[in-house]
Amino acid sequence: MTTSTIQHIDSSPLCKDNGPRINTALRFYHEILGLEHLHYGLWENDPFNMKGLKTAQERYSDHLLSYFPESTKTILDVGAGTGATTEKIQAHGYDIEALSPDPYQQHLFKNKRHIIFNLCRFQDFKPRKKYDLILMSESCQYIPMNDLFKNAKVCAPAGYLLINDYFVTKPDNTVMSKSGHNMSLFYQKARDHHFELIKEEDITDQTAVSLDLAKSWIDHYIVPSIDLLTYSFGRKHPKLFKLISWLMRNKLKKLNDQIMLLDSEHFKRVKRYKIMLFKVPG
Ligand SMILES: C[S@@+](CC[C@H](N)C(=O)[O-])C[C@H]1O[C@@H](n2cnc3c(N)ncnc32)[C@H](O)[C@@H]1O
Repeated sequence: MTTSTIQHIDSSPLCKDNGPRINTALRFYHEILGLEHLHYGLWENDPFNMKGLKTAQERYSDHLLSYFPESTKTILDVGAGTGATTEKIQAHGYDIEALSPDPYQQHLFKNKRHIIFNLCRFQDFKPRKKYDLILMSESCQYIPMNDLFKNAKVCAPAGYLLINDYFVTKPDNTVMSKSGHNMSLFYQKARDHHFELIKEEDITDQTAVSLDLAKSWIDHYIVPSIDLLTYSFGRKHPKLFKLISWLMRNKLKKLNDQIMLLDSEHFKRVKRYKIMLFKVPG
């Protein structure tokens, strides 16, 4: 392990200042659900509960390590989330830096002073050094494709780009098709930018179990509580209830969309979850 620098880097001068971006959903997973990792996990025969999810998430990050080419020493963890994966990788002896545009995540890294944190979007990042490998663990979907390949070339020329994320393979005009890059377009962009795909794995079935688990929590705890509250409030204050429902209609639609995204069968029809290792052109 080589990194021991205590350093936190704000949005200047390495990045254009694009303002703070706190992702409240990710904060909820970490603070309320107590999840260290913010990715789907890699399920085997784990118990269908929170403990099983945590085991699956640890397995997922261990699996990522098996993809690092032998020559790898320096890594940039793009979209590092809570930093749990970053720390695990560092504990394996790699020289790793983290990057995320989210000030809440920067705050979490203040307890990990041994890791350099860059508060920045990847597309705005100007590296001070070259990395052997760029890791994008469920962060690739947030970065426009051309920017992603262009800046990966700047950050890791002749190195590697390791991506784990879901991609849309069969768009169907529903909210499910709206998150994640289009798979065939992504392959095309990779070729246009001369990235060579050297290893690929489809882990859709082993990741989608997390959706089933989240859906079962919603069905068991959240939906009955909301039903109960709205039923008793609606009976006592029918006019006020109608008004509030109308005022909140956009928020309710968003919530409904979020619940639709937890349908694992639909997810599997529209998307594939991939691990892809690319060779970056020199
Ligand atoms: C689903 S979380 C994944 C976190 C972590 N890599 C993991 O596997 O647990 C997505 C991450 O991407 C980050 N992100 C969002 N937009 C980004 C961008 N334009 N550039 C870099 N990271 C971004 C988020 O702040 C968050 O850290």
